[in-house]
Amino acid sequence: MTDEVARIIALREELNRHNHSYYVLNSPRIDDREFDRLMKELADLEARHPEVADDLSPTRRVGSDITRGFTQVAHVYPMLSLGNTYSVGEVDDFIRRTETGLAGETVTIVGEMKFDGTSISVIYENGRMVRAVTRGDGEKGDDVTENVKTIRSIPLKLTGSGYPDMFEIRGEIVLPWKAFDKLNREREFNEEPLFANPRNAASGTLKLQNPAEVGRRGLDAYFYYLLGENLPADNHFDNMMAARSWGFKVSDTMTRLNSISDVDRFINYWDTARKELPVATDGLVFKVNSLRQQLNLGYTAKSPRWAIAYKFAAERAMTRLRSISFEVGRMGIITPVANLDPVLLSGTIVKRASLHNEDIMRQLDIHCDDMLYVEKGGEIIPKITGVEVSERLPGSEPVEFISNCPACGAQLVRVEGEAAWQCPNKYGCPPQIAGRIEHFVGRRAMDIDGIGEETAQQLMVSGLVSNIADLYDLTEAKLMELDRFALKSAERIMAGLRRSLDVPFERVIFALSIPFVGETVAKKLARSVKNIETLMSMPVGQLTAIDDIGPKIAESIVGYFSVDTNRETVRRLQAAGLRMETVTVSETGNSDKLEGKTIVISGTFSLHSRDEYKEMIERNGGRNSGSISKKTDFILAGENMGPAKLEKAQKLGIVIIDENQFLEMIH
Ligand code: IVH
Repeated sequence: MTDEVARIIALREELNRHNHSYYVLNSPRIDDREFDRLMKELADLEARHPEVADDLSPTRRVGSDITRGFTQVAHVYPMLSLGNTYSVGEVDDFIRRTETGLAGETVTIVGEMKFDGTSISVIYENGRMVRAVTRGDGEKGDDVTENVKTIRSIPLKLTGSGYPDMFEIRGEIVLPWKAFDKLNREREFNEEPLFANPRNAASGTLKLQNPAEVGRRGLDAYFYYLLGENLPADNHFDNMMAARSWGFKVSDTMTRLNSISDVDRFINYWDTARKELPVATDGLVFKVNSLRQQLNLGYTAKSPRWAIAYKFAAERAMTRLRSISFEVGRMGIITPVANLDPVLLSGTIVKRASLHNEDIMRQLDIHCDDMLYVEKGGEIIPKITGVEVSERLPGSEPVEFISNCPACGAQLVRVEGEAAWQCPNKYGCPPQIAGRIEHFVGRRAMDIDGIGEETAQQLMVSGLVSNIADLYDLTEAKLMELDRFALKSAERIMAGLRRSLDVPFERVIFALSIPFVGETVAKKLARSVKNIETLMSMPVGQLTAIDDIGPKIAESIVGYFSVDTNRETVRRLQAAGLRMETVTVSETGNSDKLEGKTIVISGTFSLHSRDEYKEMIERNGGRNSGSISKKTDFILAGENMGPAKLEKAQKLGIVIIDENQFLEMIH
């Protein structure tokens, strides 16, 4: 076998792996530019070696995002990808190529944003949405219609006139920066892995099996291509303007460009201006406007000859590594963090960047005092992407991962099947204890006023609280012995602790810091197990029978309750009076607490059903009404409250409360 053939085989394997990481796992291991470089190298080598041609080579397909659980549907027109360019010169070459391909005709080009999300094909018949399908492998994709219907910016019924009886429209589903930040903040709070960028968040969200959750996350969609017979115009731009008039979101950045200098100006302008857009973009797309010219130019096996993408360079800076610190999280996971000489990157000063875990640290091969590349690109969290080896100081040693916990000295253990190291000293390691206390008192858990990060530390260091149950043994007198504690702050904490006795069971479960039990899982558990006794005695097999509880979560729950300290903690919390069971409708009792109040229910709920809430309103003297008016006293809102209702409520200044607030109200 020649060296070149061996390289072809190695490249095919490597690219298949990257395709899987990118499309299936939503977790790319290399950046797009590097991927394109490898793909080009493979395509060039394959062209030289037809004797090893293979229909299944990664050069012959466009990557798959097919997931189990969705029905697969064949595309009417295959969904291709775009060729990439990285410089103005390459875009100019593309335009010249199209003109040559059209025997010297001039072309009008349409310049567009390349939205960084996940592509979607939506079919409309007689003005109604009938199906939405992901790109999949380009030939067939997943039917995600139910999820797409939750995206409010995509019309279900078209407006205006002039649309063909049947057509397909393609676009990009995106998660706007604001929604992305919100989602990641929630995930951080729940200690769920963060999405690296809005693209991963958008494609991950679109593949959820729970349309209500999809709706909650705030996806959006921009459309950029119309396909079908009897389209309204003979050119792309006018077709898109018609699509806009039918109700589709078509970006108003779409522009007709009549010369190469128009194209160059467009690139220069958007290279910076794109940062002001509400959604992530990773480049621009240039398309030949005339449909006749598009048809003449045709397609290669992978992409149209009439369109090209121009990719923005990721923003990158170089700076010196000062030190690496190893941080211990609430669950004992050790995260290496690079402390850097401050450097300006995309408008913010970066001083620290996570190195995630030992494997990533090793791959980068970081030595002490190295000059490191920091990138932001589409990523919100700065990341270290490489080392400038030519700047390495002579004799500098590689940075080693630690083997003992930096906080308590315990020998670290490797988390099974993962790249993470963990400190096993759960009950004796200070940052883990403080982390659990902070989590327990947090707003979304027990919501105990007056205890923040600093106070949690102080309570632990003083020895007053080394376990969450110790919080309920605090007294004003004990608190006032602490530094900087006056009567007022002590009273505030005591009142907060008393109030926390009314916090619903699901938040108590969440507050316990059971690994992998975030807010959503805690809600599911509370709803189905009803009380702590049942939860504590359930084997893995019974837990996995609950919707959305997989073996990993089930084993973690069983593991947690198999530890004596944890059982003891729960007993003490129970004795202190915390809610250890789900409140049933009849238990909410009858009262006149809602006497004379008119209440509208809107959205979907997780603790009780809509009917149960109706019953509770009536049992407590209130009146449930279906529509909002001046007479409405308040709205009990779940997730996905309709936008029309929300607008009306805001106009009339009506108070909106969530289910927890409602339950507290009638207790
Ligand atoms: S045109 C045959 N226009 O980029 C036409 N694609 O790398 C192909 N994308 O799969 C698509 N913004 O997901 C087109 N304005 C835009 C786009 C766009 C984002 C995505 C799309 C496509 C990928 C190609």
